[in-house]
Amino acid sequence: MFKWREEFTCFNKEIDEQHSRLFELVSKLYEIISLKDNCDHYDEIVAIFGELSEYTVYHFGYEEQLFEKYNYDAAEAKLHKLEHNSFIKKVSEVDLKELDENQRGKSLEIVLFIARWVEEHILDTDKKFGEYLKGIKA
Ligand SMILES: [Fe+2]
Repeated sequence: MFKWREEFTCFNKEIDEQHSRLFELVSKLYEIISLKDNCDHYDEIVAIFGELSEYTVYHFGYEEQLFEKYNYDAAEAKLHKLEHNSFIKKVSEVDLKELDENQRGKSLEIVLFIARWVEEHILDTDKKFGEYLKGIKA
């Protein structure tokens, strides 16, 4: 359901691959939430959610290190990092107890938030950086 598409390209193979991995993890989470087997999937949900959070931190760090490496405009880099940080904060504030009590509802809310945020962030903020990278390499 959540999949990387060509329109998401940031003209950088590594960034595109990392974005694709993010979508994979979001889909994995969505698949588990969508199971209608009446089993308790709390442990799996928490495990994938943890994996997703960790991977996001790694991925943001990767992008931010490229801002430095390629002398990205300081103001743009600052705004971009603010977006990353507010996302990390939001994800870290997820209440696991609430998630356990309302697995489907709460997980779905989280998945949809992450998917929407990632899509918007890629299409706007990351792409802007991607265009910059493309420009300096041309
Ligand atoms: Fe980004």
